[in-house]
Amino acid sequence: MNNVVIAGVGKYIPSKIVTNNMLSQIVETSDEWIVSRTGIKQRHITTNENTSDIASKAALNAIHDSNIDVCDIDLIIVATCTPDMYTPATACIVQKNIGAKNAFAFDLGAACSGFIYGINVAKSIMVSNDIKKALVIGAETLSKSIDWNDRSTCVLFGDGAGAVVLSLSENEGILDVICKSKGIKWENLTIGAKDLTNPYIDEKIRMNPYLNMNGSEIFKFATVEIVSLIKQILKDNNLSLEDIAYIIPHQANERIIQFAAKKLEIPVDKFYINIDEYGNTSAASIPIAISEMSEKNLLKKGDKLIAVGFGAGLTSGACLIKWQNN
Ligand SMILES: CC(C)(COP(=O)(O)OP(=O)(O)OC[C@H]1O[C@@H](n2cnc3c(N)ncnc32)[C@H](O)[C@@H]1OP(=O)(O)O)[C@@H](O)C(=O)NCCC(=O)NCCS
Repeated sequence: MNNVVIAGVGKYIPSKIVTNNMLSQIVETSDEWIVSRTGIKQRHITTNENTSDIASKAALNAIHDSNIDVCDIDLIIVATCTPDMYTPATACIVQKNIGAKNAFAFDLGAACSGFIYGINVAKSIMVSNDIKKALVIGAETLSKSIDWNDRSTCVLFGDGAGAVVLSLSENEGILDVICKSKGIKWENLTIGAKDLTNPYIDEKIRMNPYLNMNGSEIFKFATVEIVSLIKQILKDNNLSLEDIAYIIPHQANERIIQFAAKKLEIPVDKFYINIDEYGNTSAASIPIAISEMSEKNLLKKGDKLIAVGFGAGLTSGACLIKWQNN
């Protein structure tokens, strides 16, 4: 079998909601500024959970949705830029939490493009090694890496997790994936390693441990990438935008999505948007969106979908999906 389908989806969102008005009590900002510049109205923040905890809950929901036994999972990939620890991999902690004793597990670091990268890597491993079932999870607790005194970043991000169960299949599912990296631009979005030192350290190599971003550069990168990746994946597969039921973009800024819709000359409602509720949840944003769309019965068997992401690295990627999970 050379195909891989999405056999189940799930998400987990931390219960604590932080509204824009609550943020305006911490930094000089306003609901009006945040909504008009980004589309974000609120975000969910973890208080007593780590990335592995929320990843595990999303994973269990996806496993339940796929009707498989957790022991059937052969591979777990957690896409995250906010792992619990440098080592072990958050994926190994998830393995223990959910009891997937037969899996091998590792993390993948491609920031907000991580879920798309994860699908590509999982599909390749499954097809080449005859691996039947995999979990790809996007999970982030970015709230812990943000400088809550920096109004230009603290208003943008939120916590959450989304997961898919992938299954080797005779049916078409993951039709195509594109992954791209532009390391030359890495300095535009960083979260430095925290407090690592030795007795001989040169202070110059110390990094800012908080999320640091050149917003306008990322904005430009995102608008170019999102449009060119959608065009490229359509062209590579002899499809047009009319063949696509939904585009599921990484949720970083509603204005980036509106710009892409305008450039592609399609109505913005072809894009699934939920940034108002969650903010930017990095690697989790696309699987959260897919899971939410499935819960709302927006997805029909046979629908073709494009998921498209971009983020630190700078990375970007797109995935063409034929929906088989009903
Ligand atoms: C960050 C972003 C929302 C900023 O929007 P913008 O319209 O470009 O705003 P600017 O950075 O030009 O700032 C405009 C003004 O608002 C101010 N401002 C910034 N954050 C603010 C906030 N939360 N509340 C109020 N004012 C704020 C700035 O200080 C600036 O003031 P000044 O003109 O007096 O200097 C936008 O650049 C963006 O979304 N970039 C992409 C980020 C992204 O996607 N990151 C994740 C990648 S996965």
